[in-house]
Amino acid sequence: MKVAIASDHGGVNIRKELLQLMDEMGIEYVDLGCEGSGSVDYPDYAVPVAEKVVSGECDRGILVCGTGIGMSIAANKVKGIRCALVHDVFSAKATRLHNDSNILAMGERVIGPGLAREIAKTWLETEFEGGRHEKRVQKITDYELDKR
Ligand code: RB5
Repeated sequence: MKVAIASDHGGVNIRKELLQLMDEMGIEYVDLGCEGSGSVDYPDYAVPVAEKVVSGECDRGILVCGTGIGMSIAANKVKGIRCALVHDVFSAKATRLHNDSNILAMGERVIGPGLAREIAKTWLETEFEGGRHEKRVQKITDYELDKR
C-alpha cells in the first residue's frame, strides 16, 4: 500500500508521528508537507493528496489540520474521494469496513498524538467489508458521475 500524506501548520506534529508509524508498519508513503515554519492554506495540501489517490498513484491518503474539518471538506470536493473525519478508533474501523474511505482526516487541536496513531493504524489495517455496503458506496459514485 502507498499512502499520500499532508498537513497544514496546524497538523505538523501529528503528521510527523504518522510518518514514524508508517515507517514502523513498513508502509510506503509520499509526504507532501507542509514544512511547518509558517501559516499555510489547507486546500493547497488536501487537493494534491486527493489527486494522488484518484489518479491511482497512491492507494490512500491521510490529512491533518487543526480540526481536520477544512482538510476533509476540501478533499471531498475531488471526485472519487471518500474522506472520513475521524477522532475515535471505532469510527476508524467502521469507515473502512462500511464506507471504503480512501482518505483519513484528523485534527491536531482535537486529539493527541497517541490516539491519532491508534486511529491511523486501525484505519490502515482495516479492509472494506463489501457486501451490502458495496451498493451504498456505488450510489455515491453514481451521484458524482451524474448517473442518477
Ligand atoms: C488553521 O488555523 C486552521 O483553520 C486549520 O488547521 C483547520 O483547522 C481548518 O479546518
